[in-house]
Amino acid sequence: MDKKMIITTGILFIIIILGIFTYTLMSKNSFADKPEETEKDGENDKIKRKIGVIYFSATGTTKEIADYISQTTGGDLIEIVPEENYTSADLNYTDDDSRANKEQKSVNARPKIKNKLQIEEYDTIYLGYPIWWGMAPKIIYTLLDTYDFKDKEIIPFCTSGGSSIDVSVEDLKELAKNAVWHDGKRFSKTSKDEIENWAIWK
Ligand SMILES: Cc1cc2nc3c(=O)[nH]c(=O)nc-3n(C[C@H](O)[C@H](O)[C@H](O)COP(=O)(O)O)c2cc1C
Repeated sequence: MDKKMIITTGILFIIIILGIFTYTLMSKNSFADKPEETEKDGENDKIKRKIGVIYFSATGTTKEIADYISQTTGGDLIEIVPEENYTSADLNYTDDDSRANKEQKSVNARPKIKNKLQIEEYDTIYLGYPIWWGMAPKIIYTLLDTYDFKDKEIIPFCTSGGSSIDVSVEDLKELAKNAVWHDGKRFSKTSKDEIENWAIWK
């Protein structure tokens, strides 16, 4: 082998080594890119679907369920506060003239809400209330009349002495027709397991 041959072989050898090195680096980078994109997409999905757990509770039963749903889903817990609080006389369903009974009987009753609710911030809303005479309390009607629920996912839930949620939801749907309504669920007592299994949006 003369000197020229040795130099040419040497140069060729270096080029081949460099080629292999560059190829390895490039393929490593392209593999590394993929999971990064997926992770980013996942994060974006979470950002897109902000959850709010919005509830009215006169005696605390619905509040407890709402609290668990908020813990399970990571959604913000937001109470609907009536401008005028409900006293126990107001809630006496054995008295035809009690405030709650009169409101439920009146088609146009819309009890005022004291606090401002940032509905526009949420994409998915768990909406909770007690059943009063088979219906949602009229303050829930006020909520749906006051705010724009267009394209928001609404997942209703309630507590009651035994009545189902179904009739109440049919009424509420009429007040926010442009929302996407999901099946509702009635809870009789606070069961963390039951809530976790049901809270599909977590
Ligand atoms: C005015 C009034 C009407 C009610 N009507 C019903 C009813 O029709 N069916 C039922 O199962 N429970 C009825 N209840 C019981 C409540 O739905 C139940 O106690 C509920 O869990 C209370 O929730 P809260 O503690 O979040 O206010 C009524 C309660 C009140 C105060």
